[in-house]
Amino acid sequence: MPTLARKIFVVGGSGFVGQAICRAALSRGWQVLSLSRHGAPERNATTQDQTTTCVDNQVQWIKGNALEPDTYKEHLAGCDAIVHSVGVLLETSYKKLVNVGYNSSSSYAAATYESANRDTALNVARAARETPGVNTFAYISASDVLPFIDSRYISTKREVERELLAHQDQMRPIILRPGFMFSSARPITLPIAAGMEAFQTLYDRTPLGCVLKHTPVAKAAHSVLRREVVADAIINGISDPKVSGVLEIADIKRIGSAQPSLY
Ligand SMILES: NC(=O)c1ccc[n+]([C@@H]2O[C@H](COP(=O)([O-])OP(=O)(O)OC[C@H]3O[C@@H](n4cnc5c(N)ncnc54)[C@H](OP(=O)(O)O)[C@@H]3O)[C@@H](O)[C@H]2O)c1
Repeated sequence: MPTLARKIFVVGGSGFVGQAICRAALSRGWQVLSLSRHGAPERNATTQDQTTTCVDNQVQWIKGNALEPDTYKEHLAGCDAIVHSVGVLLETSYKKLVNVGYNSSSSYAAATYESANRDTALNVARAARETPGVNTFAYISASDVLPFIDSRYISTKREVERELLAHQDQMRPIILRPGFMFSSARPITLPIAAGMEAFQTLYDRTPLGCVLKHTPVAKAAHSVLRREVVADAIINGISDPKVSGVLEIADIKRIGSAQPSLY
């Protein structure tokens, strides 16, 4: 697989998926910059995994706000690719409810779907287009498989997708539409993923499938992805100039397992 990018800028690199993306890039020897409002991630004994120290030491953590290009624009110079990994699933912070990675002293206004999912990406994409040399923009969108979620979660993601595709002559868009992601780094996700996989087994392998396929969780059960697979799909996609456009769950699994990272 040809390698194009050597320096990437991960918006939200301190987050759940962002940290896996940073690790996957570092494992290829790439230079990694991360943008987030708090800079380096907060460490929590219950969520820390073995590789965090390595990531902490090797990533350049930039403190800034994706909504305010002046806080990060200078750092885009020299980057080949941008990865956007910012978004909210619920406008009321579910992190506060499950107490993972939540900064209780945060003074930031509550994120809306429009500000977090859409405007952060549109601002960074605009700044990236104005920066010579940035050739790829990877955006973590979402599959519309999750039941009971406000439709604005998906509609704001689709707005960004359309904007990126409209400018694909200037910057190659890689748009990932994952479903639910899990990892031991966020323990709350493990029982949820296990439940969804059990449901999938019932659905696929027993006569109950005929009944279950009409339930809202049927599609979601097939969408479960290990976050490292998504991270590898992003890094493999950036490396391969043939990868462009929208990647659905099956594409993410295929590209994500093509060349797993070392971690
Ligand atoms: N987790 C899943 O199962 C899942 C499934 C499908 C799609 N996705 C998508 O994947 C992406 C990443 O999700 P995640 O679970 O990793 O989210 P997360 O853990 O909440 O991480 C979000 C990251 O974005 C940063 N951030 C938030 N607002 C920012 C701003 N205005 N400027 C700069 N940085 C900002 C956060 O750091 P600060 O707070 O320090 O700024 C953090 O680093 C999102 O787009 C989400 O919709 C996730």
